[in-house]
Amino acid sequence: MCGIIGIAGPEGSDVVPMLVQGLKRLEYRGYDSVGIAVVSDGRIVVRKGAGKIEEVARVKGFPELHGSVGVGHTRWATHGRPSDENAHPHLDCKGRIAVVHNGIIRNYSELRERLESKGHVFVSETDTEVIAHLVEDELRGPESFMEAFRRALARLEGSFAVALLYAAEPRRIFFARMESPLVLGLSSNANYLASDIPAFLDYTDRVIVLRDGEMGWITSSQVYIEDWRSGRSVEASGRLRKIPWTAEMAAKSGYPHFMLKEIYEQPAALRNSFRGLAGDKSLLKAAEIMASADRIFVAAAGTSFHAGLFFDHVLGRLAGRIAYTLVSSEYHRLEGVVGRGDVLLAISQSGETIDTLKAARLALSRGARVVALSNVIDSAIPRESSIAIYTRAGPEIGVAATKTFLTQVLALTMLAARMGVASGHLDEGDAKNIYQALFKASSLVRKTITATEGVVRELADWLAGKHSAYMLSRGIGVPLSMEAALKVKEIAYIHAEAYPAGESKHGPIALVEKEFPVFILSEPGLEEELEGNAAEMKARGAKVIVVSGTGRPSRHLDLQIRVPGAEDFMTPYTHIPPMQLLAYYTAVKLGYDPDKPRNLAKTVTVE
Ligand code: G6P
Repeated sequence: MCGIIGIAGPEGSDVVPMLVQGLKRLEYRGYDSVGIAVVSDGRIVVRKGAGKIEEVARVKGFPELHGSVGVGHTRWATHGRPSDENAHPHLDCKGRIAVVHNGIIRNYSELRERLESKGHVFVSETDTEVIAHLVEDELRGPESFMEAFRRALARLEGSFAVALLYAAEPRRIFFARMESPLVLGLSSNANYLASDIPAFLDYTDRVIVLRDGEMGWITSSQVYIEDWRSGRSVEASGRLRKIPWTAEMAAKSGYPHFMLKEIYEQPAALRNSFRGLAGDKSLLKAAEIMASADRIFVAAAGTSFHAGLFFDHVLGRLAGRIAYTLVSSEYHRLEGVVGRGDVLLAISQSGETIDTLKAARLALSRGARVVALSNVIDSAIPRESSIAIYTRAGPEIGVAATKTFLTQVLALTMLAARMGVASGHLDEGDAKNIYQALFKASSLVRKTITATEGVVRELADWLAGKHSAYMLSRGIGVPLSMEAALKVKEIAYIHAEAYPAGESKHGPIALVEKEFPVFILSEPGLEEELEGNAAEMKARGAKVIVVSGTGRPSRHLDLQIRVPGAEDFMTPYTHIPPMQLLAYYTAVKLGYDPDKPRNLAKTVTVE
């Protein structure tokens, strides 16, 4: 979705280069247009346009702007096509209020009509522009800007994170949050606000995560927060946190793309995750609650959904239970179903995916408990849940999730093992063996990358010429093949579909012709059945590539991606890295930017 940044620097400073840098860090949230606004000599100056940051900054002359207080925005279009007019910031009629916004104002047409009838002139097709005019409309006489802003907020329906400049109060940036993420960054001589922490991680690691219904303002030396519905001010210092992320973690560090860096970071991320989770009280508590729950539901989106499906498999294996796993945008299905005694596991890397948040809220409202698994401390989903577990993968910038998936899977396996113990399905000795195996996940990934990168690169050159591919597996491998297919689809734009291999006979096989790519993720104990499926594909001319940890040669395959051998619940660490690399190198071969796949955003904060 869109990315917002605001910087209130000390008088005489110039925040424009920092705004541009911050926008580059936010580009993964959305990137069809970009813009900045600063207050200069009591006037608001805006530069904006459609296109990528570098290009817009050059064409629209960002470097010519100077100011010590400013806001910036990268846009992922919802209302109105990407264009110079629709790019943020948006202004009121007099050009004295500038607004950047992430989210959707649901009642914007009604508000726009009303404001137009009062003489306000709109110049864009966006829902955002109504905010600028609405605040302008509410500004009366000697009243403070905050009063007008508060009244305007009360009229908005939808989800939003907004930052506003007001020419008459040039040292301040005003902000508000409702359902879309917004974080403050505090430092000794400047204060920041942004949609996501990496935007200002170069300057500070001291953050306050804002909550729904909070508004306020920052200057270079002050922070004011209040709840606009109750009017009560919030004690900011009590909410300040130092986050364990460094600027280096959010930088490419010599890698051509974040995605490759993050694939390579997986061993370190898994090590960190394992260390943190091995003695984590929240994980133990969550396992106890879940083990005694009547039913377990899982809600998640995208890659996190695949982690959820993996959990379902591993839960059966380690705790003898089943979970009802649903794509979180289908959360309405929980209505009339979930209730007291149940637990919903909400998995979200960002902790901000709106559908997953809604699923969690629905479950809570019906008396169920919610366990959150997230990578971002204090983000909305963990904050609103009964218990939060954190993956500790470090910041992930590439839009396609990589290291966060494997750390989710690690955390979920630990959770399933502890649930197994809590329910008497496993004894402590079994759990210890599982933990010992998981301890090796990190080195398994390292060995796998070393063993497979060469062959995968060659394979990518071939896959780049294809339009479609199947990813087949059985058992625990099914969610892994779904994740593999998602990677290929989202960054290489090749249609890739995952199926339980046995199901491939019920339709998918009809598309198979000569040289059709079929990837089989082999699973220990299921090799024979999978070999049968490979034979069926091969007989129809498919090119069959098997990711497997056993040396057993097969007549039915064209190529084996040989990975280290591992038991089934450890196969994410051997089967996923080569598929991530395959997607990455195929995208690069085709000339696409894997970090910024078209039409996609890292965090989806609109329904
Ligand atoms: C978007 C991202 C995916 C991600 C999904 C869920 O679609 O592009 O990479 O898996 O959202 O995000 P979450 O933060 O909830 O895990």
